[in-house]
Amino acid sequence: MADFIGYTEINAASDYIKARIQELPEIGIILGSGLGGLANSIENPVVISTKEVPAWPISTVPGHEGKLVFGNLDEKRVMALQGRVHYYEGHPISKIGLPIRVMQRLGIKILILTNAAGGLNPEFHAGDVMVMRDHIAFMQFGGENPLRGPNLDEFGPRFPDMSQVYDLELADLAVAAAKQAGITVREGVYVWLAGPSFESPAECRFLRAAGADSVGMSTVPEAIVAKHGGMRILGLSGITNKIDISGKNAATHEEVLEAGISLAPKMTKIIHGVLKAI
Ligand code: HPA
Repeated sequence: MADFIGYTEINAASDYIKARIQELPEIGIILGSGLGGLANSIENPVVISTKEVPAWPISTVPGHEGKLVFGNLDEKRVMALQGRVHYYEGHPISKIGLPIRVMQRLGIKILILTNAAGGLNPEFHAGDVMVMRDHIAFMQFGGENPLRGPNLDEFGPRFPDMSQVYDLELADLAVAAAKQAGITVREGVYVWLAGPSFESPAECRFLRAAGADSVGMSTVPEAIVAKHGGMRILGLSGITNKIDISGKNAATHEEVLEAGISLAPKMTKIIHGVLKAI
């Protein structure tokens, strides 16, 4: 596998998909751990297994099914990805951006990113939803960035701006939709770490002191690629576990998936609210 994806891989994947769907999607949705169920409410679905799509990175994580679902949600044409891939699975960082590049090739201008995350902010509880206002791409401090490698000039500039990654209007719509549905909604900064090990208590204290409200192992690489390509982005973190900086209560993947079950309907309501309003 080449270290960097280029036009060849992106075009092969997007041409394959274009030949399988009737109408091009307008909005992309990436479903995080335990949140794949949202795709079931898509009307007139066309489902493509990611295994069939040339160059598509394959997910190996339980709870991530590896399907693309095209269809209608609240009268919008959507493309949902069930089963994102994560850096910790061993994919080169550039490949994590492939689904976003394909969405861009299909003409998608709005991207909804969801994730399961640990709550670092002491006011957050498992079951809350956090609307992402900013992120810390912690991995790029160590040299890992999905845009590393030759710049794809057809998509965006070499040195893209990241001063406002998450669209203000979409974030406000999400907060309003959550409040209207009676869901406890938080707003804050998500920090992306590589995983797959969870954070040590000292790391959690460090991340909190650095200004992070939630922590997870996804979303930010996709957001960086999407922003580079000029998309409007909404990021929703489902808080699956409250981080205990004393280290007495360790997070587990089972806990994350279980909390995802109660978070899925909340995230679904918020996404419906946003889709209706745009
Ligand atoms: N840490 C990192 N990633 C996560 C967590 C966590 O506590 N919960 C869900 N994803």
